[in-house]
Amino acid sequence: MDFAARLAAAAEATNRVLDETLQPTSSIPGRLQDATRYATLAGGKRFRPFLVLEAAALFGADVAAAEHVGAAFECLHSYSLVHDDLPAMDDDDLRRGQPTVHKAYDEATAILVGDGLQALAFEIITGPPVPPDLAGPLAHLLARASGNAGMVGGQYRDLNALGLDADGIRDMQAMKTGRLIVAACEAGAVLGRAEAAERRALVRYGTLLGEAFQLADDLLDVEGTAEETGKKVGKDAAADKATLVGLIGPQAARQRLTEIVAAASEALAPFGGRASPLREACRFVAERRS
Ligand code: IPE
Ligand code: IPE
Ligand code: MG
Ligand code: MG
Ligand code: MG
Repeated sequence: MDFAARLAAAAEATNRVLDETLQPTSSIPGRLQDATRYATLAGGKRFRPFLVLEAAALFGADVAAAEHVGAAFECLHSYSLVHDDLPAMDDDDLRRGQPTVHKAYDEATAILVGDGLQALAFEIITGPPVPPDLAGPLAHLLARASGNAGMVGGQYRDLNALGLDADGIRDMQAMKTGRLIVAACEAGAVLGRAEAAERRALVRYGTLLGEAFQLADDLLDVEGTAEETGKKVGKDAAADKATLVGLIGPQAARQRLTEIVAAASEALAPFGGRASPLREACRFVAERRS
């Protein structure tokens, strides 16, 4: 299978788990469940589930467990997007090619959809078919990556980021975007009961890949189109967002992106040819148009 097919397979598995998990039931308010399905099931690259699955595959870990862990990461990520788009944050009205949740529903519903998805991520990551002895370590990993020392803390820093230098921007982006990407790679190592050195190699890979991922996101805001990205472009400059692209310009930023993905690829050396899909993910991140 080539990279595109593997990414599509990860997306299909994620959609299957999310669709099964988010069935309507009499105890869940129908409109809330509708909005949650809207937030999670329409689009998205499913890149974090792909990382969980491919990292887990390096160690021959159980596929069904990895699919559920990937879906948990996607719930957490989708919650972060729903809240990121709120008027009090980036105030966006387009996401994954459709109106944002607060536009399609309303603001209070969008807040609660995010809250529910955050809880659902932990329900999925601690439930079957995830091996019971790994549920605690995986939940701990996801919690640390997404809380105040991770995604949420990074989002907070992003709100007050004016005047940051390149290192400050890198630190902020490592928290808001990088931590979840690192944790997705690390989750694969946990599922595969990897040796410490193998886990460290995946952390290094994920750290570089996460930096590259946000750099590419910021470049797409300058160089991409709404048709490609499914979200409004040109917003970072208009909103005076602190990005490396804004600080050093798109050309230097693209050069940096090329260097980082090369380093990420090198971090996979201990895994040899087995890591080809993760290696190809580096190229995907550098070249992506959505
Ligand atoms: C967008 O993430 C927000 C960032 C963390 C940069 P993605 O580019 O992974 O968005 P989807 O999930 O594919 O829509
Ligand atoms: C978002 O960064 C990072 C998150 C943790 C959600 P952005 O604000 O740049 O993401 P987009 O461009 O809206 O997807
Ligand atoms: Mg934002
Ligand atoms: Mg945003
Ligand atoms: Mg962006």
